[in-house]
Parts: sequence; C-alpha cells; structure tokens
Amino acid sequence: MGVHCAVGVRLGIWATELNGPVNLELTSPDSLYAAMADALADTGHGVFRCALAPPLVEALRLQADVAEHWYSAGVGRHSDHQINRFVRRDRVAWIGRNSEPEIQWLDWVEELRWFLNRSLMLGLETFESHFAFYAPGTFYRRHVDAFRGEGNRVVSLVVYLNERWLPGDGGELVLYGADGEMLEKVPPDGGTVAIYLSEQYPHEVLTTRTQRYSIAGWFRQRGVLPLDRI
Ligand code: OGA
Ligand code: MN
Repeated sequence: MGVHCAVGVRLGIWATELNGPVNLELTSPDSLYAAMADALADTGHGVFRCALAPPLVEALRLQADVAEHWYSAGVGRHSDHQINRFVRRDRVAWIGRNSEPEIQWLDWVEELRWFLNRSLMLGLETFESHFAFYAPGTFYRRHVDAFRGEGNRVVSLVVYLNERWLPGDGGELVLYGADGEMLEKVPPDGGTVAIYLSEQYPHEVLTTRTQRYSIAGWFRQRGVLPLDRI
C-alpha cells in the first residue's frame, strides 16, 4: 500500500487522520468510530488512513475481482436513471452478505452505524454499498450523492482497496465546499476511508491512470426499494 499500515489484531487500530492531527494513532475500532463521528459533527466530513485492516482490504479487492454482476454505473434515479459516459465511467457491483469479506465489511459498517446513531442521533436505518472499478482513463465528474429534500441518503462512506497507489496515478477523490473551494484531495490508498454528509459535498473522482478499486456506500434514514439506487 502507498501508505504503510502496520498490521494489528483488531479492525480499526491502524487509523490515522489525513489532514488532521499528524499521525493520530487510534487504538480501537470505537476510537476510530468516535473520530469519524466527531468529523461528521465538527465539519461534516473526514478522511482516515488505514482505517480498515490490511487483510480485509486485500480480501475485499480479491472479492471485487470475482464479483459476478458488474455493470456500467448510471446517474439519476427511477425513470431518470441513465448511463452517462460524460459523467461517470466506472463499473459497479452491489455488495451483499455473499462472501466472508463482504460479511466482515458489512459488520464493520453495522458497528459504525450503531456508533453514529448513538453519538449523533442520526437515525441511520439502512446501508447499501457497491464495489466500483475505474479502468485507466475513467473518472466520475463532480456530483452530489443525494439531493436535499428527496434523498434519504444521509452519510456517504468510501473505502479504497488499491494495493499500490503512487502520486501521479490520479484517481483522487476531491471534495468541494459550499463555495466550490477544494476541501480534500484524497489519494485512493488501500484502507483509506472518506466519510461525509451526502447532501452537502459535491465531489469528483479525477481521471485515474491505473486500475482503481473502491467501495462506495450510503447510510439511509429509511428503508427504500432497490429502485431508488443511484
Ligand atoms: C460515488 C463516488 C467516490 C470514489 O460512487 O458516488 O463518489 O472515490 N465515489 O470512489
Ligand atoms: Mn459520489
């Protein structure tokens, strides 16, 4: 991995916050979850390196490689749903409890969901996520994950699964503020997690020059039909 993540015995003990206190060492999943909750409460977004255990990151990437139902990602929902190659060119495969790595990922997320609900009273009820694969030359232009009023996507979560990412490889996630200013430029290093309020942050995936693996997921406040997926 581009970032060295020391191997530990429990999920979450590797985390360090990207633009935060230098090398903040988090010693348990709960302190990682607490730091993520703080980031949401304080600024609405946060980026954490080495948040996911390296063995799980690796297992998820291998699982992505054998996932069966990949398709070209679309934009918009319901009848608006369309494949727009000017906006995004990734391919996605939805995650379910179909394999050990997926189960471990969803268990990790479930603990986070409980933590966020306890500490921030967010009332997050469901979570959906997909693997995303960006071939060299692909991107996802600036967008928001939910629109105020109609969306019940409340919190977005992105995790990177790339074994080796180097400066110059491209594919960074860029988060923008309300005035269009750049807030974060996130290298898609394996194990890095970005979390942000879904309605608040326009963001984009810069053109990648290497194969880029990630998981994108969303917490919702009410259960909804799969049709509602963007
Ligand atoms: C998305 C998305 C960001 C990333 O799938 O909606 O913004 O870094 N992904 O993969
Ligand atoms: Mn997005």
